[in-house]
Amino acid sequence: MDATLLLRGAQLIDREGLVDIAIADDRIVAIAPDLRMVAVTEWDLGGQLVSAPFVESHIHLDSALTAGEPRWNRSGTLFEGIEIWRDRKQQLTMADVKNRAVQALKQQASYGVLYVRSHADVSERSLTALKGLLEVREAVKDWMTLQVVAFPQDGLYGSEKNEALMEEALKLGADVVGGIPHYEMTREDGVRSVEKIFELAQRYDRLIDVHCDEIDDPQSRFLEVMAACSIRSGMKHRVTASHTTAFGSYDDAYALKLMGFLKRSHINFTANPLINITLQGRTDTYPKRRGVTRVKELWQNGLNVSLGHDCIQDPWYSLGTGNLLAVAEMAVHVCQMTGMEEIEACFEMVTAGGAKTLNVTDEYGIEVGKPANLIVLDAQSPYEAILKRATVKAVISRGQVLVETIPPVVRWANQMGQSKEPVTRAERS
Ligand code: FE2
Repeated sequence: MDATLLLRGAQLIDREGLVDIAIADDRIVAIAPDLRMVAVTEWDLGGQLVSAPFVESHIHLDSALTAGEPRWNRSGTLFEGIEIWRDRKQQLTMADVKNRAVQALKQQASYGVLYVRSHADVSERSLTALKGLLEVREAVKDWMTLQVVAFPQDGLYGSEKNEALMEEALKLGADVVGGIPHYEMTREDGVRSVEKIFELAQRYDRLIDVHCDEIDDPQSRFLEVMAACSIRSGMKHRVTASHTTAFGSYDDAYALKLMGFLKRSHINFTANPLINITLQGRTDTYPKRRGVTRVKELWQNGLNVSLGHDCIQDPWYSLGTGNLLAVAEMAVHVCQMTGMEEIEACFEMVTAGGAKTLNVTDEYGIEVGKPANLIVLDAQSPYEAILKRATVKAVISRGQVLVETIPPVVRWANQMGQSKEPVTRAERS
């Protein structure tokens, strides 16, 4: 059998020794040391890490790349961000949403991201954000897998029109039912919204991803409602609780009880440490809370955790590049996951953990017979990838080379008395 692309000397994450990876058209057809095959194109990787692509499990592409429009968020707070977005979204058009979303997706792809779950605000009568992202999903499907969440930013019951808009969004083809129970006007509305989300997901056969308890209030307890609904409905791994920052503020007695229910529920978690370390704890003086959910404890209890950006350059967060190694690096710090196994777990949270959240594990991973979606990193291990924020040298999507990036090179001046040989720089941002 001939290959279209043969990667020689690849280091895989969970395998001792180097292997060759053969790709024919859009599939991985062989993985073994020293493959005897002919290929149209052959690369010698010299022991560099080959990983399944990064998975962005939580982002808002409808607001991406709008930072500074119409003004910058001077306080850096969630509430000023909401005010600015209220003004900016008056200018939303299909072209505006689509152009920015594709630009952001290309930027993400250049960092090795080939799976993205984006929320789309469905609180506007026009459903412009949702319709725009559904068109983008179709436009990029040959090189990027995009899931779209119907997200009622103002609450499912924040206005009488919102429930109908959510159902319309599902009929239009949203992949996932979203929600925001802690932002509903009453505790009762929040509980009712979670129950409605589960009912809609079952009726339309969709996944669930809820912005849940993204607040410092230790009395915000909709995660327990999600766990109960998940256990009763049996939806389990088809359900994701995003943010859950209040879990970081619960007292330990309650958190311990909740953890038992969560283990029974088998739901996924998505944390967004870049933005939540900046947005949460704003009303604290000192000590100041970190505002991130209990990532380490969830991982230790065997629950699936993935990591996302949430925002890239929008009214809530003016930074963010799409590079998930930056997100993993922040998780290592904020969640105090500095042990070697813990650092490796953070790498997994932006790769295989994300794939579990998106429910794409059937097609995800470097295995014979699976689609040839993989990345080559300028590193030899997940630890080195996070340490160096390693350049993703090549991104292969559906068997085709999609993007190549050359790592920066540092040259010392002669007078430093150093070798003139170029040295590959250890970091790119
Ligand atoms: Fe979000």
